[in-house]
Amino acid sequence: MTTPRDALLGLFPRGTEVDGRGVLVVGGCRLTDVAATYGTPTYVVDEAALRRQARRFVDGLNARRPGSHVAFASKSFTCTAVYRLMAQEGLALDVAGGGELVMALAAGADPASIVMHGNAKTDDELHRAIAAGVGTIVVDNTDDLDRLESMLTRPQRVLLRVIPGVRANTQEAISTGHHGSKFGLPLDRASEAIDRMRRHPLIELLGLHLHVGSQILDAAPFADAVKAVSGLGDFDVYDVGGGLGVRYTYDEHPPSVEEYLDVITAAASEHLPDSAALWIEPGRSLVAQSQVTLYRVVTVKHGEPTFVAVDGGIADNFEASSYLGQRFEATLVDRVGGGEPVELVGRQCESGDLFASDLPLQDARPGDLVAVPMTGAYNHTLANNYNGALRPPVVFCRDGQSRAVVRRDTYDDLLARDLS
Ligand code: LLP
Repeated sequence: MTTPRDALLGLFPRGTEVDGRGVLVVGGCRLTDVAATYGTPTYVVDEAALRRQARRFVDGLNARRPGSHVAFASKSFTCTAVYRLMAQEGLALDVAGGGELVMALAAGADPASIVMHGNAKTDDELHRAIAAGVGTIVVDNTDDLDRLESMLTRPQRVLLRVIPGVRANTQEAISTGHHGSKFGLPLDRASEAIDRMRRHPLIELLGLHLHVGSQILDAAPFADAVKAVSGLGDFDVYDVGGGLGVRYTYDEHPPSVEEYLDVITAAASEHLPDSAALWIEPGRSLVAQSQVTLYRVVTVKHGEPTFVAVDGGIADNFEASSYLGQRFEATLVDRVGGGEPVELVGRQCESGDLFASDLPLQDARPGDLVAVPMTGAYNHTLANNYNGALRPPVVFCRDGQSRAVVRRDTYDDLLARDLS
C-alpha cells in the first residue's frame, strides 16, 4: 500500500531517503547540511538520478527502435554542467539559439550532435551554428531557408519543422502543434519547401521535425502527430520533439517514460518507413524530478488561511507564477509529510507567488527548512532577479558529496551591467 509519505517521496529524486534523525537525504546528502554549506534558496540536483533518467530515455528508445536518438531539450535546464552531463550520457543537445549554442560548445558537446532550433534565428546565430559545425539545423520557415541558402559554403544537414495540426490538453502558452502555431510550416505549405530544399546542392534534408507542446499528460497526441506528418513522404529522420508531462502534484498522472516510448515507437512502426530513425527531444521529463529546491521559512502568519513564507518564490520558480500557475507539493526537511494545511508562499511582490494551497506542513516555524520537489525543469532556466532576488546556486549531490556547479548571484551582480 502506498502511504502518504511514499507518495511524497515518490516526487523526489529516486533514492531520496529520510535518515534516522528524520531528515531528508538527497543524493546521499542531508539537506540540513546542504543548507548549512550553501545557504538558501538552493537548487539541489541528485546527479545520479539525473544520469539514470538520461539513460532511461536513451536505452528505452533504442531498445524499441534501434538507431534512434535522444536530444536533450537544453532550454529546460540551461546549465553548462547539465549540458556536459547529458553529452557524457550519450545524448545529443537541442539548442534554441546562439546563447544555448555557446553553452553547449562550452560544455564540450560534439558540434555534430547539436540540433539548432528557432522560429526567428538571426543571421549571427546561423553564422555561428554553421561555423561551429552544428550537425543539424531545423528550418522553421522560408526566411530561415533564404538565409541558410545564402550562407552555406559546404553541405549542411537540416530538418524541416512542420505543424502537425494536433492540439494536446495543456496550457495555451506551451502548446505548439496546433493549427496557427508560430512554430514551423503548416502541412499544406511544407511540400514546396521540401522540394526547394531537395533541389539545393548544399542542403541535405534529413527529414521532418515537430513538437506538439509541453507538460502533456496523455500519450495519444504524440501518436496523432506522427500520423499527421507521415503523409508528407518518406524521410530518413522524424524528430517528434519533446513534451512528455511530469507529476508535480498528486493530481497529475502522466504516462511513464516507457509508456510514452511505447506509444511513439508503435506510431512510428505503423506510419513511418521501417528504415527511418526516430529522434526525440525531452526536456521537462528528463530533468524535473532530479532537482529539489531548498528554502528557509522566514515568516508564518497564523490565521485563515495560515501563510508560511519562504526566502524564495517566483524569482526562482517562475512556473509557480501566474504565467503557468503550476502548483507543487513540499515538505519540511526534518519533519517529512503530514501536518496542518497552509498556504506555502514566496517573498516576491505578487499574490500569484504561491507554491501550494492547503499544503500539509508540520507546525512550520521561522528558520525551518522546506524542500520543494520536481523543480528541475525550467526553474533555473527562468530564474530572474525580480525584487532584486539573488538567483540560487545549483548544487550537485552524489554519493554524499556536494559541489556547486553554479554560484549564487551576489548584490554586485545586480549592479554589474549598469553603465552609469
Ligand atoms: N523541443 C522543442 C522544439 C521545444 O520547443 C521544447 C519545449 C522541447 C523540445 C522540450 O519540451 P519538454 O519535454 O520540456 O516539454 N517555459 C515553459 C516550457 C516551455 C517549453 C518550450 N518548448 C515552462 O516553464 O513550463
